[in-house]
Amino acid sequence: MAFPPQFLDEIRTRLSVSTVVGRRVKLIRRGREFVGLSPFTNEKSPSFTINDDKGFYHCFSSGEHGDIFTFVMKTQNLSFPEAVERLAEEAGLEMPRQTPQEATDAAQGARGREAVDAACTLYEQALRAPEGRRALEYLKGRGLTDETIKRFRLGYAPGGNVVKTRFLARGVTEDILLETRLVSPGKDGRESFDFFRDRVMFPIFDLRNRPVAFGGRVLGETAGEGPQTNTGAPSRAGPKYLNSPDTPLFHKGQILYGMALARTAAAEKREIIVAEGYMDVIALAQAGFTHAVAPLGTAMTESQIELLWRMAPEPTLCFDGDKAGRAAALRAAERALPLLKPGLSLRFAILPAGKDPDDICRREGPDGMAQVLADAAPLSDVVWRQVLSEHRWDTPERRAGLEKAVLAKAGLIADETVQAQYRRLFRDRLFELFRSAGSPQGTRARGRGANRSGASAPGRDYRRPPPPLQPAPVRRIARDTTAAQRTRERILLATLLNHPGLRDHVEERLGALSLADSRLDSLRQIALMHIAQNPELDFEALRAHLSNLGFTEELGNLLNSDTYVHARFARPAASMDEATAGWDHTFTLCQRADLVADLKRAETELAENTSDETMAAHKALHALVYPASDDDGDEPGHSKR
Ligand code: CTP
Ligand code: MN
Repeated sequence: MAFPPQFLDEIRTRLSVSTVVGRRVKLIRRGREFVGLSPFTNEKSPSFTINDDKGFYHCFSSGEHGDIFTFVMKTQNLSFPEAVERLAEEAGLEMPRQTPQEATDAAQGARGREAVDAACTLYEQALRAPEGRRALEYLKGRGLTDETIKRFRLGYAPGGNVVKTRFLARGVTEDILLETRLVSPGKDGRESFDFFRDRVMFPIFDLRNRPVAFGGRVLGETAGEGPQTNTGAPSRAGPKYLNSPDTPLFHKGQILYGMALARTAAAEKREIIVAEGYMDVIALAQAGFTHAVAPLGTAMTESQIELLWRMAPEPTLCFDGDKAGRAAALRAAERALPLLKPGLSLRFAILPAGKDPDDICRREGPDGMAQVLADAAPLSDVVWRQVLSEHRWDTPERRAGLEKAVLAKAGLIADETVQAQYRRLFRDRLFELFRSAGSPQGTRARGRGANRSGASAPGRDYRRPPPPLQPAPVRRIARDTTAAQRTRERILLATLLNHPGLRDHVEERLGALSLADSRLDSLRQIALMHIAQNPELDFEALRAHLSNLGFTEELGNLLNSDTYVHARFARPAASMDEATAGWDHTFTLCQRADLVADLKRAETELAENTSDETMAAHKALHALVYPASDDDGDEPGHSKR
């Protein structure tokens, strides 16, 4: 709704800037102006001035400038109409009337709101009544305090048709109950019935903290159901969460759970956390992270991203580190790219696989959660790493393919300035990446100088072409992707990173391996090439190079005590001899595990389809896994590791 200019002027006349600002900032009069400490920066000497005659404030250190409306919008995270409404009320002015249609809609909307609010209260009371005991125990069992339960107005929807019966008796029409979906229409001429029955209730609030819809959770555990199984065969109790469908009051894609409560905290901290579920937002708030919200069981929409940016410039999105979570993070990244504006972006906190913020807050406390948030990666890194993990860059054509793909991502950004910055970042990284991929031949010549001048060196076949730094992946029938194998792969990498001098010794074997984790695989390729290009490289320089290329997170995951408990020789402190012996041993185990996986597959194939070919394949593999000296009783399944 557009406000008549006279109306806005009337509010400005009645409320001086110093009155409105003075409630938040301590002001001192200086001549015709007031000064104080800027609420927009963390300053020690006042650079914030107010001129009541001119009707504006100005902050000399941040450049913030505006009138009473912008001040309230900025400091309380309100939209313009909301700021107008709030200040009009303070000024004792009635809001201008709407058109008749708007008035009718508003009246209908108001009745709907009242009904939803009354239902919210009914659910809250039921939670404290004997019938709600199990639900209350459930919430307490999940660690929620009474204060938290009140703050989020959690409740319990009893079984039966409590809402319908009581509300009709009170004179609420069935129309309103159906429109707000507190009640479902009965199919095939049957009676309508309460939408939520025997569920823990999570009211969903609009920006003014008025309930407009609900999520209802079954009591107790479900069989590990996630949002994607929502439509899958429901158990007798139905899906884990049942949510109000869209109604005139509620548009799922335009609301974030918890946004009304979060936005003041978000304005103060200039930060906002985005989790995946109701319980995450609630647990975060209880742990002190009151600036948390969640989309409602769906991928983030554009409106939701825009909404977040009105609350903080770089919202941090939390995702489960499992496969589904990573895919969801990528979807969010792709959706945000076209919308980016100077200063506005997203950050991505990837949680340990299978954990949500609720788990982290409860198991590791606020510090653990703060650490996860501090480790969040910028949007640009998420995009870069993704493209990198999907490409190879060992030939000019492949390098061109990678370059094209990564610049295409930048091309999705609509804002010119941001797009230019992305292109620049990506070009710098490509340059750095390709510089070390440049001329493998030349690099290989290193260390053979002595041989060049003299005759052929003993033990070294000179005519053999140098092995490519990135050979085509070895054709494998099967691959061992067990946790044990992944640990071995991490050890191989960590040992090399901590002892770059190992490169000559390990490069051919490490080059031929392809790792189960695609991002570690990219890191492997880059590390090998960079070490090849820079023979005198030390650990710090290698680490800096990998960080520059966006692998900080992976480095952190590799080079830590989790890896070192398995392999002391991987530590930086280990001697070169220890590292070499440890690396060789681990590599043998790694290779054998892959061969064993191949053999298992060959056995299955042989059993399904016995032919000369499958028999030969099986025999060859068997010979590799169990060289002649091994006795025949050693089954692959029981191989010693
Ligand atoms: N969700 C949904 N419908 C489902 C399952 C989930 O709408 N059948 C939405 C809910 O908003 C839920 C979010 O997806 O909060 C995340 O789902 P999930 O991770 O399965 O649940 P949690 O929030 O972790 O809930 P809880 O900890 O209570 O199991
Ligand atoms: Mn959970």
